[in-house]
Amino acid sequence: MSDLRKNIDTDRLPKHIAVIMDGNGRWAKKRGGIRLLGHRSGAKAVREVTEACAELGVNYLTVFAFSSENWKRPSKEVSGLMNLLADSLQEEFSTLKDNGIRLNAIGELDRLPEKVSTKLQNTIQNTSDGKRMCLTLALSYSGQWDIIQAAKAFANDVKQNNKAIEDLDIDMFKSYLSTKHMPDPELIIRTSGELRLSNYLLFQMAYAELYFTETLWPDFKKKELYKAILDYQSRERRFGKTSEQL
Ligand code: FPP
Repeated sequence: MSDLRKNIDTDRLPKHIAVIMDGNGRWAKKRGGIRLLGHRSGAKAVREVTEACAELGVNYLTVFAFSSENWKRPSKEVSGLMNLLADSLQEEFSTLKDNGIRLNAIGELDRLPEKVSTKLQNTIQNTSDGKRMCLTLALSYSGQWDIIQAAKAFANDVKQNNKAIEDLDIDMFKSYLSTKHMPDPELIIRTSGELRLSNYLLFQMAYAELYFTETLWPDFKKKELYKAILDYQSRERRFGKTSEQL
């Protein structure tokens, strides 16, 4: 076992880690390759980080695989990413199943091409009994979209007399978000040195610890994850209280 891993206190793991996987394009450029080469290596990093989280006992891992804004990329890159997703779902199904990992997806999934959405729904359904960890793909996702769809669903329930406006509180609002079945992320990781949240889990990350690293996503291996968790464990999480009150 690596020294870094040994130093992790498994009783104080973040239950939910969310990742903004950035830097695939720059990783490919550095090697003189096309952007898709970076995305392919990025998919391998997803595999490695999923494995590391499952081994440690992290319950939820959510990766930002495609944002609502990513539809604006050149159509060749978008279709390349969609093909990669479909292939990865096919290739990784048995590994997910054998390791008790259930797949989940959040976002405007009806915008995905048929071949991705069919594979996605099949994989979600066929891994739904996985108890060890939940891997969520944020696909065609944006935090603002999530908040708006939640607001619309709540307003609709009010209109149907199923809910009263005065009863709305934070927990009730969370029950309308696409992440309703998971705890809020406690650790958000962003790779490649960019210091932005890029419209990720905006409502859910209210108290998350943020970890930024210069490492490009395809180079983010188990060791990098351990470093992020150790950094998280070195912080004092006060949730608005003073140190003395903890
Ligand atoms: C950001 O790098 C990455 C993406 C927009 C896509 C992420 C996709 C993957 C890691 C591969 C597929 C995922 C799964 C779950 C199989 P960038 O292209 O913005 O990089 P750059 O900032 O260096 O240009």
